[in-house]
Amino acid sequence: MSFDRSIKIAPSILSADFANFGGEIRAIEAQGCDWVHVDVMDGHFVPNLTFGPPLCQAIRPHVTTVMDVHLMIAPVDPYIDAFAEAGADIITAHPEAGPHTHRTLQAIRATGAKAGIALNPGTPVEAAEYLLDLCDLVLVMTVNPGFGGQKFIASQLDKIRKLRAMIGDRPIHLQVDGGITPETAPLVVEAGADVLVAGSGVFKGGSVDNPEVYGENIRAIRNAAERARAAA
Ligand code: DX5
Ligand code: ZN
Repeated sequence: MSFDRSIKIAPSILSADFANFGGEIRAIEAQGCDWVHVDVMDGHFVPNLTFGPPLCQAIRPHVTTVMDVHLMIAPVDPYIDAFAEAGADIITAHPEAGPHTHRTLQAIRATGAKAGIALNPGTPVEAAEYLLDLCDLVLVMTVNPGFGGQKFIASQLDKIRKLRAMIGDRPIHLQVDGGITPETAPLVVEAGADVLVAGSGVFKGGSVDNPEVYGENIRAIRNAAERARAAA
């Protein structure tokens, strides 16, 4: 995985057809997404349950771009190796998911995967400040984690701006996740984000039998984001 700051659209398969992940991933990649975002939830750290390492391993052969695994589980440390072995290219954890986030990020990198830190809406930028040299990605949650289809929390724009300044020239992606649409994409890009996760914003209205809608949704978000980038 090489680093650049071009706008990347990462559809969350949380909004895909759970009976057909392989087909859904092939469809979004054929329709132009950059990464595939996988939301892992444990019914404990967040009030929803999704899937674990076996599912990641099963979908891995269908992902030709980047498998971006967002772990909303606590404790997180005991599961890092399993997600890496399942083929995650990026593993992102929340600082609230264990007492020693520095060690968690080291453990992720030790597997060969890229390491990300995810900040909940109430988590301050300082939670990442002294960990940036261990991070390949900082994820700003623009909704409370747990569910797709929630409303974008605008107060997070200030956090994105602060993190963008903090990151400076370091090769660290600034990712946003939650409520991303063609209306909110320009706001987060103007604030400094480069990787946009979108679940309902990509999957709404489409299906594996009607994948062009995924393409239209991806392009609508990307075009809005790139216009904001060009104007910045
Ligand atoms: C929320 C997840 C998100 C979610 C985004 O806990 O981390 O990735 O799927 O969904 P939308 O784009 O529908 O807000
Ligand atoms: Zn996510």
